[in-house]
This record gives sequence, structure tokens and C-alpha cells, in this order.
Amino acid sequence: MQWLLNLPVALWRRLLLIGQGLLGLLVLIGTGLGALFASGGTLADRLKAALTAPASLRRAFAVARLFAPNLVLKTKIITAYDNDGTAFVARRADVIDVLSRDADFGVVYGTRMETITGGENFFLGMQDTPRYTRDVSNMRLAVRRDDVPAVVAPFMAATAEALVAAAPGTIDVPQMLSLPANARLLDHYFGTPGPSQAEIIDWTTTLFQYLFLDLKADPVFDAKAEKTAAAFRAWMDSHIAARKAEGGTRDDILGRCLVMQAGGLPGMSDRDIRNNLIGLLIGELPTTSAAANLALDELLDRPDALAGACAAAGAGDDDLVAAHIFEALRFRPLNPVVYRRAMRDATIAEGRVRARRIKKGTMVMASNLSAMFDPLAISSPNSFRTDRPWETYILWGTGLHACFGAYLNRANLPAILKPLLAKRNLRRAAGPAGQLDNAGSPFPVHFHVAFDQ
Ligand code: HEM
Repeated sequence: MQWLLNLPVALWRRLLLIGQGLLGLLVLIGTGLGALFASGGTLADRLKAALTAPASLRRAFAVARLFAPNLVLKTKIITAYDNDGTAFVARRADVIDVLSRDADFGVVYGTRMETITGGENFFLGMQDTPRYTRDVSNMRLAVRRDDVPAVVAPFMAATAEALVAAAPGTIDVPQMLSLPANARLLDHYFGTPGPSQAEIIDWTTTLFQYLFLDLKADPVFDAKAEKTAAAFRAWMDSHIAARKAEGGTRDDILGRCLVMQAGGLPGMSDRDIRNNLIGLLIGELPTTSAAANLALDELLDRPDALAGACAAAGAGDDDLVAAHIFEALRFRPLNPVVYRRAMRDATIAEGRVRARRIKKGTMVMASNLSAMFDPLAISSPNSFRTDRPWETYILWGTGLHACFGAYLNRANLPAILKPLLAKRNLRRAAGPAGQLDNAGSPFPVHFHVAFDQ
């Protein structure tokens, strides 16, 4: 009987799926035509800018959810990792299914992880093996959840507060807040500052790009990444040696790793510690900085949401500040897809009309962005709401390889942005300076905002 009562809701959700898909298609056509007849730049550049804008991406996935929820193409979009074609997965149920079927859909990053470490894999590049469990467990003993309220959140809050206080009414957010705050965390909490702030930012950013975003394996960039990795390894080796020689008991992540090594824990040789820390640092710095800027950019585009976030920051309501930031990131997640490669022939959405057979070797782009807007699973997906259950969000993956830093992210992103949001009359700086500027890289390098002192 209950299924009968659920029927109106199910019907309404289907209608939304159809409406979003059709409307998305119409608006995308309009956007394309607008770019066609606009002036400035080449047509290709105008089209690319218009159709890859965040709102266009969301519309494209709305169209995919309706017309081609599991789209299989022969085209190889990623060439940095071996594959025989590409599939896009757009419905939430299928995205979560793909990311939880590790035997069918495996991670691909192993080869590049090995280049970075000079031979060994790092756990994000491993399949679900005993070695994976060993390494991730070791690192979880060092990076403890208890640290978030006790060490990380207070440190980030104080650091961000000081960085914003040092800015006289205008601030270049990546350069003066989000990058230095994260670099300081690598020093204070991880015990791995790098030779300088500039170098640790450059190294982690370059290697993140190499692993996840250098999709076409650009040889010039790859040569730079290999040089960077060698410098990172050499510095980390000498730093570990220096810390061991110091013989101290500093209670940071490196210090804890050395204590675990002294206790004879398997998988904690100097080289293991080096490789694990390099992996964690690449995961930590560029991602957290970029996500903070994307969330802020999205809030600045939404006057009501910005007013809500600023009021919450002014009132010291940390939960509400966080709710605004994570909802902003739903619209602008750092990564709109998580990719996997089919380890064997497999079927997505078995038994459904949308079922697709995926051949072994196919790269599968599971869209977390699309999953967070799927009207079949998410209530009023296009509205900006701060009362969504946390489970709505897939901001840093899901399943076996869900982000190691998930708890850090939930504390760090609000801590970084809160002192800015608490400023009166927070706004974009005038002109191009007030827009995100990636300066040719995949991440925000400049982004000026202004506020009343
Ligand atoms: C807002 C910031 C961050 C974002 C957006 C982010 C994003 C992600 C995503 C999407 C994944 C899943 C990758 C996949 O399944 O293919 C992931 C995994 C991972 N992240 Fe993060 N991340 C962030 C911060 C961090 C931090 C702070 C750390 C380190 C402390 C970190 C370390 C890792 C590691 C080690 C994995 C692999 C986990 C595993 O294989 O079990 N990330 N992250």
C-alpha cells in the first residue's frame, strides 16, 4: 500500500527530471548561439568559455540524466592513463554504484603515483588490497580524527583570522589567505613545511595537476612534474633524516610516523613515510585552497546566500557558516567527476532501461556534480539550501577511496573563510581583479575581494 502513497512523489521527481533535461538543453543551445554571435576572442574560445562555465556543466548533466544517463563513447578523453574509451555516468544511484564496486571499477593513478615516489604506489592508486588497508590504516593512526577539534580547527581559525586581519580592506584570497593558511598547516600539523612556502605550494600544486588533471599527458608539463617529484623526494628524505637526528618527540604527523617506525610497525620505513606524506601533502594543499576560492566565488554570485553566510559568520554560528560553504560547493565542487577504469566487463544499472554494458578498459567518469543535482534523489536540487542532510554532498569522492582528509575539510574550509565572511560589505574587487584568475593553471591563483574595515 505504501508504494501507492509514494507514487505522487515519484511522479513529481520524474517530471522534474524531464523538465530539467529539456530546459537544460534549450538553455545550452541559447548559450551556444550567444557565444556564436558574441564578439572578442576566437569562436572556439568563446564556445569553450560559455559551455564549460559551471552553470553550463550543470545543465549538460541535466540533459545527460534525462537522455543518456550512462553514455558510452569510443573516444579516449583521458590519455594519461591507459583506456579504451569513455563512459559518463550521471544519475546519483549509478554514480554511487560505480564508486562502490571496486572489483569492477578500479582506480587508475598507480602509474603516475609510482613516477612521483620513484617506484612505489601510494594508497589512492591502489586497488582494495591488504597493502591498501595497511597503508591507509597507518596514516589514520597518525592523522587522528581527534586532532580536528583539538589542533587543526583552532589552528586554521587563528591563522585565517591573522591573515585576514593583516589585509587592509582588500585581499587576494589565494595568495594572502588560502594558500598560506594551508602551507602553515603543513608545517604546524604535518611537520613538513617544505624548503619554503612558495616551493611547497608549487610542488603540491604541480603534482596534483600531474595526477588528476593532466589528462592528455602534456610532455613538457610531465617533464616539469618529474623534476618536481625528484626535488620533493630529496627534500622529504633529508627532512626525515634531520628529524630523526634531532631525536625529539614533536607531536606532529611526521613525529608520530617516526614513533610508529620505532615501534616496528610494518610499512613505516623512511621511504614508506616519505611516500605517504608526499601523497597526503599533494591531497591537502592545492585542493583545500582551490575549494575555498570556489565556494567564495559561488557565494559572491548569490547575494542572498552571501548575506546569510556573512550574517552567520558575524553571529559566530559556525554550523551555519559551514552549511553555506558546503552548499556553495555543491554548485562548484572542485572535481565534477571521479574517474575509474573498468577492471572487467561490467554492467551499470543492471535490469533498468538505462543499463549499459561497460567493456573492460573503459574509463568511467562518475559525475559527483550530477549526482548532487539528480532530482530523483535530491529535493529541490536547483535551490540553494542550508538545511540539506550531509549525505547529500559528494564533494570529495565516496566509497573506498573517499577523501582521507574528509574531516579536515569540514573544519578547514569554514575556518579559512569565516573571518572574511565576518567582514562588513564583503564584495568582489572592481574589474577583472574581482574574478577568479587561474593564471593558466587549473587552480585559483588570484582572486581579489574587498570589505569595509
Ligand atoms: C577540499 C579539499 C579536498 C578535496 C576537494 C578533495 C578531493 C578528493 C577526492 C575527490 C578524492 C577521491 C578520489 C578518487 O576516488 O579517485 C580524494 C581522496 C583522497 N584525498 Fe582528498 N580532497 C581534499 C582534501 C584532502 C586533504 C586535506 C587530504 C590530506 C590530509 C587529502 C588526501 C586524500 C587522500 C590520501 C585520498 C585517497 C584516499 C584513499 O584512497 O583511500 N585530501 N580527495
